[in-house]
Amino acid sequence: MSSELGVVLYFAVLNSGGLDNVGAVSTEVKRRLQEINVEDGVIRRVSIICFEAEMNLASYADRGGHLKVEVKPDRVEIFVEDDGPGIEDVEQAMTPGYSTAPLWIRELGFGAGLGLPNMEEKSDIFHIESEVGKGTRIHSVVFRRRDAA
Ligand SMILES: Nc1ncnc2c1ncn2[C@@H]1O[C@H](COP(=O)(O)OP(=O)(O)OP(=O)(O)O)[C@@H](O)[C@H]1O
Ligand SMILES: [Mg+2]
Repeated sequence: MSSELGVVLYFAVLNSGGLDNVGAVSTEVKRRLQEINVEDGVIRRVSIICFEAEMNLASYADRGGHLKVEVKPDRVEIFVEDDGPGIEDVEQAMTPGYSTAPLWIRELGFGAGLGLPNMEEKSDIFHIESEVGKGTRIHSVVFRRRDAA
């Protein structure tokens, strides 16, 4: 089965100055994972992680960024990378409720400061590193099997 061979998917997220296209990448990720029969619960978690990542790239990374999704027999790994402004205090950014979202994003119903905490919650392994002026990187892992270490 193709799902046992490992599949690597690449996506570019543009920052078009609005949120019109946000959701396109996570929807495509979901479709591709369904195609190769990844478990529903795993797809749900990966889709949420990708949506929040996409949203942040479109909101904060001036030039957008990239998502790489690696499907392995025992896990799905998500790598998110941008060369945007970076985050000064990552711990603060990870705090539920902390947000620097501008008014126009809040007016669209986002900017509650829950995206990163939600990504962490939906991940079995979650790492974020960021450098001001350089960009931000996230590595998230969702296990496909409960017995996977
Ligand atoms: N890729 C990024 N580059 C620069 N800053 C970021 C990035 N992602 C998140 N941030 C910063 O971290 C804060 C918290 O992000 P988080 O996704 O948790 O909440 P939010 O985007 O503000 O609101 P929500 O996700 O609930 O709509 C953001 O307000 C922003 O300041
Ligand atoms: Mg967010």
